[in-house]
Amino acid sequence: MSEHFLVTGGNRLEGEVVVGGAKNSVLKLMAAALLAEGTTVVTNCPDILDVPLMAEVLRGLGCEVELEGSEVRITTPAEPKYRADFDAVKQFRASVCVLGPLVARCRRAVVALPGGDAIGSRPLDMHQSGLRLLGARSEIEHGCVVAEADDLHGANIRLVFPSVGATENILMAAVLARGETVIDNAAREPEIVDLCNMLNQMGAKVSGGGSTTLTIQGVRKLEPTTHRVIGDRIVAATWGVAASMTRGDVRVRGVNHKHLGLVLDKLRLAGAEVTPEVDGFRVIQRERPKAINFATLPYPGFPTDLQPMAIGLAAVADGTSMITENVFESRFRFVEEMIRLGADARTDGHHAVIRGVPVLSSAPVWSSDIRAGAGLVLAGLVADGVTEVHDIFHIDRGYPRFVENLRGLGGVIERVSTE
Ligand code: UD1
Repeated sequence: MSEHFLVTGGNRLEGEVVVGGAKNSVLKLMAAALLAEGTTVVTNCPDILDVPLMAEVLRGLGCEVELEGSEVRITTPAEPKYRADFDAVKQFRASVCVLGPLVARCRRAVVALPGGDAIGSRPLDMHQSGLRLLGARSEIEHGCVVAEADDLHGANIRLVFPSVGATENILMAAVLARGETVIDNAAREPEIVDLCNMLNQMGAKVSGGGSTTLTIQGVRKLEPTTHRVIGDRIVAATWGVAASMTRGDVRVRGVNHKHLGLVLDKLRLAGAEVTPEVDGFRVIQRERPKAINFATLPYPGFPTDLQPMAIGLAAVADGTSMITENVFESRFRFVEEMIRLGADARTDGHHAVIRGVPVLSSAPVWSSDIRAGAGLVLAGLVADGVTEVHDIFHIDRGYPRFVENLRGLGGVIERVSTE
């Protein structure tokens, strides 16, 4: 059975939407539970498939995991298993975040490599070289990344790029290493800060979260904790961009607007009135959006995960937008699908030039990843007619209750199942 969306264009989005916990935080926080024997509770978990998939990975490592509503309870044994098999990890890349905690707890990890990715190659070289500096041996063997350490010790590590995943894996290994570790050119994403906060609640000694330098004093043991996941800034901004594209009025709650500083500034440049609120923000767009220029960069730069939605905005904006993708090599592939919807877009390497048209024209299109899928649905909202968006399992992986939320704002969308 496959499912697709039918999106009817032409409606203005209006109302309020509440976002759940961040996908890019919750999976790492669940992995961090491996670092302490006992029961760790993670609250405000989003209702997306990756959460039960991560629960399966943890069960395979010997944890007991209970999911109830937006709460996950993970009970980690004294001696977790160190091998995460292909069957458990193949369905989602983020499972690789168990590598650091397993090396820290078991001094040994074998994690099957997840498969390819539509947005570009995603090597683990920085994860491995960081772990090597901490004293581990690490190789790729028989489709798995293997890391082993007799003694894990502090080190000075300078990342060649502020990789989110490498920062997290090295951090989670270093919290239980002997001595001090300094990670320079570390990723600064709010999800990294969330992880640092949880680790410190567990008894780790991490300072500098949110800056380019993380300093970690290794401790012998961590204790379980209860931690609330931060709101999902990418989902929140998706609704903000949708409001701007449809000349709507949307209040987004459940997120810290400070995590979206640059994105909200870009919406203002597109002509939106953006008001920060205590637990979110409001976007009102009265006129046709104006063209926007941006380059994706690690935080606090413009997030690569919002590039497809912003291209949707550019596609109907007044003027020509110039967009540069600096994080993932193949992330412009989905622009072909935007062109099927009538976007006047051209890409050359990691640059895209988009001349806005007043309205797009509906067509069948295919999602290649979570964010491309969301971008195509937003484009469908401003297309003439009914757009069929296929391969929506991608969208379901990142957007809890997507149809319900969009309908709640006045969007016209239907989920259709076919044999
Ligand atoms: C995370 C997010 C993803 C987001 C990305 C960048 C999760 C689950 N996913 O992915 O949604 O788009 O951050 O904000 O949190 N790289 C290497 N070698 C490495 C590691 C990374 O070359 O060892 C490269 C990647 O190929 C990519 C770039 O660095 O081109 C950024 O990757 P990274 O920041 O590691 O992204 P992820 O952690 O995979």
